[in-house]
Amino acid sequence: MKKADLIVITGAGGFIGGNLVRYFTRKGFTRIRAVDKKALYEWYLRTPGVENLCLDVSHEDHCKRVCEGAVEVYNLAADMGGMGFIERFRVECLRSILINTHMIEAAYRAGARRYFYSSSACAYNILLQQDPKVRALKESDAYPAMAERGYGWEKLISEMFCQEYWVERGLKTAIARFHNVYGPNGTWDGGREKAPAAICRKVIEAIDKKDLSITIWGDGTPTRSFMYIDDCVKGIDMIMHCDALIATPINLGSSELVSVNELVSKVEKIAGVKLKRHYDPTGPRGVAGRNSDNTFIRKMLGWEPHTPLDKGLAATYKWIKQQYYDRKKGKRVVE
Ligand SMILES: NC(=O)c1ccc[n+]([C@@H]2O[C@H](COP(=O)([O-])OP(=O)(O)OC[C@H]3O[C@@H](n4cnc5c(N)ncnc54)[C@H](O)[C@@H]3O)[C@@H](O)[C@H]2O)c1
Repeated sequence: MKKADLIVITGAGGFIGGNLVRYFTRKGFTRIRAVDKKALYEWYLRTPGVENLCLDVSHEDHCKRVCEGAVEVYNLAADMGGMGFIERFRVECLRSILINTHMIEAAYRAGARRYFYSSSACAYNILLQQDPKVRALKESDAYPAMAERGYGWEKLISEMFCQEYWVERGLKTAIARFHNVYGPNGTWDGGREKAPAAICRKVIEAIDKKDLSITIWGDGTPTRSFMYIDDCVKGIDMIMHCDALIATPINLGSSELVSVNELVSKVEKIAGVKLKRHYDPTGPRGVAGRNSDNTFIRKMLGWEPHTPLDKGLAATYKWIKQQYYDRKKGKRVVE
């Protein structure tokens, strides 16, 4: 890639897309087109010097415009959220199929050299995730397929698009299966937030309202791993530019497994507080356990996401606390 080659990033008003725009800008790329359907003031990050477009990329015509002149395309746009969102809004999740369907075709027709697709650990067979002491998921565990209803199936079929565009049409595609990404500049309130952000916010609220209790969905035993955003954007770059990984789904996640209860304890420690825990058995909880097997990424890239959860959580907590008190003061913040 030359520094003046055009990079297109969709979902750039969101968490990972916004951080990816900033990452490539810092690397010295001078022509970045950032795209999101949200109004600009709702974007988490707006990076100076970048061409920002507010367009809905579930429409074919918009995708053509978005991909004009693109050398590389990173498709991070999707209607998504944490467990509370993807369990309730399966239709919205499934409709994201329109985004990848039109984006990959437009990227191909525009003559883009490479195309990145953000898949998810939700593409894995849920029958392998029924125990909190889960065996970490390796790439071959997606088939035989029994993905998460809605969101997971959309990811799986979009992965297949990426594989067939390579086989039949020669478009170099990259497919990363993200495992729970967290960090500053992402969703922290409003229903789409994921567990680390939600727990940080609840702890901040408890302290602010002097009600030292917290409600946890389920029974606190489900386990997950969480990848810090800096690892995520670096991993995207490495996977996209590894020829041995063309059209090959690969885990991009941390292998540091924790239970929801442990996650709460970590945030309490950062905040210097102990809260009374209430468990809500009716809350959405997802699979019992999910972890990333990083054997393949270590072998292919000699690297894996490594930011310790304690370190990433401290940075995330600090950012959410700032957002919370800014909002309280009446400042405009993006939730
Ligand atoms: N965050 C995670 O833990 C995680 C885990 C697995 C996979 N992923 C995938 O990574 C990608 C980015 O996730 P994120 O966490 O940044 O989510 P996000 O919700 O913060 O960002 C997604 C962005 O896409 C935009 N968008 C949605 N539909 C659009 C459309 N039709 N046209 C244009 N823009 C549209 C949204 O407005 C939003 O800003 C998604 O594909 C998601 O499924 C994320």
